[in-house]
Amino acid sequence: MKKYLVIGNPIDHSLSPKLQNWWLKENNIDATYDKIKLEVHEIQKFIQEIKEQKIAGCNVTVPFKKTVIPFLNRLSPEAEQTQSVNTITYDNGDLVGHNTDIAGFDCAIKKLDFNVEGKKVLILGAGGVVPSIIFALQKMNAQEITISNRTKEKAENLRVLFNNIKILEWGDLTDFHMIINATSLGLNNEIIDLDFSSLGQDKLFYDVIYNPQETQFLKMGKQLGYKTENGKTMFVYQALKAFKLWHKIEPKVNTDTFKLLDDD
Ligand code: ATR
Repeated sequence: MKKYLVIGNPIDHSLSPKLQNWWLKENNIDATYDKIKLEVHEIQKFIQEIKEQKIAGCNVTVPFKKTVIPFLNRLSPEAEQTQSVNTITYDNGDLVGHNTDIAGFDCAIKKLDFNVEGKKVLILGAGGVVPSIIFALQKMNAQEITISNRTKEKAENLRVLFNNIKILEWGDLTDFHMIINATSLGLNNEIIDLDFSSLGQDKLFYDVIYNPQETQFLKMGKQLGYKTENGKTMFVYQALKAFKLWHKIEPKVNTDTFKLLDDD
C-alpha cells in the first residue's frame, strides 16, 4: 500500500490527512495519508525514504517549505521562483518539488466575485505562504503589491524573489482594494491592531487562516461592510492539485468536501 504524509512542525492542526484520505477512499486508491512532526535535522533522512520509495510522496508545511529544497533533484518553475515547496513527487528516480499553494490561492480568488487585475493589494505578514500569494497575485495582474510585516527585514528579504513589491511599516495603513492576513494573528482569536475604518468602499478582506473560520480580522472586515473570505478554499485546492500530481486523478470538490473540514 502506498504511503503519503504531510510533514511540518507543529502538525497536529493539519486537516490534510482527513481530506486526502477521503479522496483516496472516494477514488478507490489503495494508499494511506498520515501526518508526521519532524525536527529540522530529520528532514534529509525523511526525504531519502521517498527516494527509496518507502514513502510515495509528501506534502510540506510550515516551517519546512524552503528547508526541503536542497534535498530535491529539481523544482517546478513555480517552486523555483517562490523558493517554496509544499508537495514532493517521485518521478523516474528524481525527487521533484512543486508548489500547489499558488494554484490553491488562484482558484480561491477566481471563485470570488472580485477581479484582482489593476488592484492594489496589501499583504500582512512575510511568512512561509507569502511568496506563493505574491506569485499568484502577479499572475493575476495586480497593479501593486505591498507587504507589511512586524519584522521589516523579513518583508525586505522578499525583494530578492520579487523586486517590485512595496514595503510598508507595520502599523501603517493607506488605501488598498484587498487586504490579506498572512500572519498567524487570529489562530487564537488575536486582534490585528490596525485601524481599517478609513479605508473607503468595496474592499476584500482575505484571511489565509481557515480554522477558526472567521478570525477577528474577518469579523472586522464584515462589520465594515466588506467582502470577506477565509483560507479554506485555498487549502482545498492546494490539496486537490497535490492529489492530482500523485494520483493523476482530479478529485471532486463539493459541499461535502467543505462540510468534512467544518466538522473539526
Ligand atoms: P514563519 O515566520 O516561520 O514562516 P508563519 O506562520 O508562516 O511562520 O508566519 C508568521 C507571520 O505572522 C510572520 O509574518 C510574523 O511576523 P514576524 O516575521 O515579525 O515574526 C507574523 N506574526 C506572528 N505573531 C505576530 C504578532 N504578534 N504581531 C504581528 N505579526 C505577527
